[in-house]
Amino acid sequence: MFISQIQGMSIVITGNPGVGKHTLAKGLSEKMKLELIDINQIAKNSGLFEENNESNDVDAEKLQEILKQKISNRCVIVGHLAPYVLDKDKISTVIVLRRSPYDLIKIYDERGYSDKKSKENASSEILGITTYDAKNQFEEKVVQINVSGKNIKDVLNKAELVISGTRDSEEMDWLELVTKNNDLQKFFVD
Ligand SMILES: Nc1ncnc2c1ncn2[C@@H]1O[C@H](COP(=O)(O)OP(=O)(O)O)[C@@H](O)[C@H]1O
Ligand SMILES: [Mg+2]
Repeated sequence: MFISQIQGMSIVITGNPGVGKHTLAKGLSEKMKLELIDINQIAKNSGLFEENNESNDVDAEKLQEILKQKISNRCVIVGHLAPYVLDKDKISTVIVLRRSPYDLIKIYDERGYSDKKSKENASSEILGITTYDAKNQFEEKVVQINVSGKNIKDVLNKAELVISGTRDSEEMDWLELVTKNNDLQKFFVD
């Protein structure tokens, strides 16, 4: 099946901070003419974030209600909160981006994350928590793409293939990699 033949299309892009969600979402929305819906932006504009010094608490129930109204027939919805604020039935495909924790900590350094925040996010990636939660919520609609070592164009192409169903989900095990390298203490808070 060609992507242009798919009628309703609500694609979700999720994953930990720094994996490349917004880059892919923007690329997909331009290439496939999909409306871009940014969960964080909507939460912020609706005043649903309670800003603490390091983390943001969000009213998930209210956000879920607001998002229900916003989801259109042809859209790409982006955000790490996706598994907690979207209903399965309105979604066609959920892409969880995965990226090596070694790459992620470099990005977190550039973003000026604290050591604690950096490790919390990197260890979440190593354990695959977003994938676990996404599968819990969206079940068979979830596919993973490994972004590590790929350029933006490659990732965009892969995404189009998984959306059209011509490419399978990728499986990766960062825990095995990190354990083998004896690097657990680099990524986990003591
Ligand atoms: N496929 C890719 N390959 C290499 N670098 C990427 C890729 N996608 C995004 N990036 C870079 O990684 C960083 C994080 O990307 P971003 O889209 O902001 O991630 P997120 O929205 O998940 O936090 C940015 O510096 C971006 O330019
Ligand atoms: Mg982002």
